[in-house]
Amino acid sequence: MTEAAIFLVVTVDSGAEDVVAETLPDFTGLVRSVASRSVEAHLTCVVGIGSALWDRLFSGPRPDGLHPFIPLAGDIHTAPSTPGDMLFHIRGGRMDVCFEMATQLMSAFGDGVRVVDEVHGFRYFDMRDIIGFVDGTENPDGPAATVAVSITDEPDFVGGSYVIVQKYLHDMDAWNALSTEEQENAIGRSKWDNIEQDDDTKPTNSHTALTVIEDENGVQQQIMRDNMPFGRVGSDEFGTYFIGYAAHPSVTEEMLTNMFIGKPPGNHDRILDFSTAVTGGLFFVPSVEFLDDPPLLDDESATDQTTAEPDESHRDADPSAAVTPSTPSDPGDGSLGIGALKPR
Ligand code: HEM
Repeated sequence: MTEAAIFLVVTVDSGAEDVVAETLPDFTGLVRSVASRSVEAHLTCVVGIGSALWDRLFSGPRPDGLHPFIPLAGDIHTAPSTPGDMLFHIRGGRMDVCFEMATQLMSAFGDGVRVVDEVHGFRYFDMRDIIGFVDGTENPDGPAATVAVSITDEPDFVGGSYVIVQKYLHDMDAWNALSTEEQENAIGRSKWDNIEQDDDTKPTNSHTALTVIEDENGVQQQIMRDNMPFGRVGSDEFGTYFIGYAAHPSVTEEMLTNMFIGKPPGNHDRILDFSTAVTGGLFFVPSVEFLDDPPLLDDESATDQTTAEPDESHRDADPSAAVTPSTPSDPGDGSLGIGALKPR
């Protein structure tokens, strides 16, 4: 949980694959360069690759869980799937460092990479989201976090992860018209001191009742969230940027199904009555080792695959997991690893 974050979702123009392919191996070096200018800000940056772009860039096996975000339509609320070839999740102790990272990234990837969604998130009081509740409390910690997010059962992608993002906009007038008790029943926790409601009193349509899920053996399935508030008062925009990492996207997808379709169907998440999802994306997050030496297509086959459809046959594989993907590794040659970056 950092003080600041920037979420950039970008698309890659047809014909710009070469530049992206040349730049990706320099990504970790570029992060190190910016981070080293303000070490105390602990800048990190994660890159995620979308399903369609994968086929335009890489040869060899495909990550099992990589497919386009699956849109959901419940009786009342919908979760749209929106365009996005890459996600950059930039986090740090200060916005200036995050902003510099975003600027350097866009310069390195060039004009063929277009930002289609940009959110600048800020920490809001004591880790509260913009609707006033402490957010992130039940995230897994330590080894459990590693298990929750890290791929272990796909030999070609060990240490990678899957990430799902959604931008939510809140109807603050309607939310603030609720009593504190009604708000607490929507979340399933108390507002001021952040205590979880008892299972026998927590409403079945509360957010935390619907997002706690278990596998067939009764083991809780967890994801790692790093939501950030954002907004613009002049535009009456008050939002939560949801971001969830998992060892397999089916875990996050089951939570989303419970929220939007309802469990049982029709019993949808009460926070959706005050929150509208306006974007939705799913990305594979490669390990540093993968990024430093990716299995790029040769030029000829890259051109052939610009419109390749994603393979959805892997969707139902079991999740499992290990290792944090965001820490840049040493390039091993004593350099910063940014030799091939070209200014715009
Ligand atoms: C818990 C807010 C969207 C998954 C929570 C909590 C809050 C919250 C306040 C309770 C404290 C905590 O444990 O963090 C929000 C808001 C959202 C949002 C404002 C967007 C409008 C989502 C989405 C997912 C999700 C889209 C999953 C797809 C979870 C999970 C928990 C949680 C797994 C922990 C449940 C537990 O173990 O008790 N969220 N959330 N959230 N949320 Fe969300």
